[in-house]
Amino acid sequence: MAILITGGAGFIGSHTCVEMLNAGREIVVIDNFANSSPKVYDRVRKITGKDFPTVECDIRDEAGLDRVFASYKIDAVIHFAGLKAVGESVAKPVEYYDNNVGGTLTLLKSMRKANVKTIVFSSSATVYGSENPVPFKEDMKTGGTTNPYGTTKYMIEIILQDLCKADPAWSVSLLRYFNPIGAHESGLIGEAPNGIPNNLMPYIAQVAVGKREKLSVFGNDYGTPDGTGVRDYIHVVDLAKGHLFACDRALKVKGCEIFNLGTGNGVSVLELVHAFEEANGIKIPYVIAPRRPGDIDFSYADVTRANTVLGWKAERTPVDACRDTWNWQKNNPNGFDD
Ligand code: NAD
Ligand code: UD1
Repeated sequence: MAILITGGAGFIGSHTCVEMLNAGREIVVIDNFANSSPKVYDRVRKITGKDFPTVECDIRDEAGLDRVFASYKIDAVIHFAGLKAVGESVAKPVEYYDNNVGGTLTLLKSMRKANVKTIVFSSSATVYGSENPVPFKEDMKTGGTTNPYGTTKYMIEIILQDLCKADPAWSVSLLRYFNPIGAHESGLIGEAPNGIPNNLMPYIAQVAVGKREKLSVFGNDYGTPDGTGVRDYIHVVDLAKGHLFACDRALKVKGCEIFNLGTGNGVSVLELVHAFEEANGIKIPYVIAPRRPGDIDFSYADVTRANTVLGWKAERTPVDACRDTWNWQKNNPNGFDD
């Protein structure tokens, strides 16, 4: 009885492996290391003191997936594997649709053959588009995504919903993540972006460690309290724990359910910068730059459903996440290459 974790060497996947192992669950992890390092696995073993099987496998490789399902008794899949860089997805739409949508279809075919019909999927708040008012609720209209990455998430949600309609034996949990930040408190695992980070927190962390000179704040003329963009930053350990609750429920309840995983609180760019400064006693130089195309003013979650139905709640603060990010970044300035 094990849970298959696809993309388990990645940022959120590795933290979820830790929470699953700490909760006494058996896991099997697959990844093709397109955006991660196999060194992550030993870090997870070090944190938890537990061993687990890993297989280098691409989710587009149906025969490879079939072998995994034949080799282990899998009850459910937590599906993180995917490409996630918004800008890259605009430049390489075919690769993104192939990897994320094509890969998910291949995974579903292999699951169906193995009669494994429970899946927890990494979706994103990006599916709410730019027209909905905050806080975003699960039953709001989705779509209107502005880049191929976001559209892959929207398309996969539709595919999984259609699958549940066609075959009531399936259990699907669509988890819409808000903005995951932070790192495990051990400092052994964290986010290790390739090249120049696109996302705010890894950029701040690289300024703090001296890799980048200053942060560009993308716009201070939004209709938000301080003019900078507001997001719902959720500590990755809280997010990882959410998967434990979602997986347990999906194993019990058939059909498709959707959950926002966020804190329910909006935090501005400048508030996050100041939280980092407060947590770590490091000044983060910044300049105000033009708005980034495709950005929205506000994004934060209504977390009522996850709180009441899953019984899960985010417990960590942005200051906790800033402290843990810095602990990870300063001890691993070059990610898993250190
Ligand atoms: P990540 O890049 O760190 O992890 C994804 C993992 O999937 C990587 O280890 C990568 O090597 C692997 N992978 C990619 N394509 C694969 C393939 N074809 N076969 C096997 N493995 C493959 O990203 P993350 O931040 O941990 O995100 C995990 C999931 O959550 C992704 O699906 C992402 O789109 C989604 N998500 C992330 C965020 C975020 O801000 N980090 C927000 C919303 C949703
Ligand atoms: C972005 C993606 C979203 C994806 C998410 C997680 C876009 C339009 N959206 O969300 O699809 O799911 O990442 O990968 O790219 N900011 C700065 N300076 C920086 C970086 C960011 O001011 O150097 C600001 C942004 O304008 C935004 C906030 O910080 O207001 C958060 O940005 P980011 O971390 O990139 O996340 P999102 O834009 O919410």
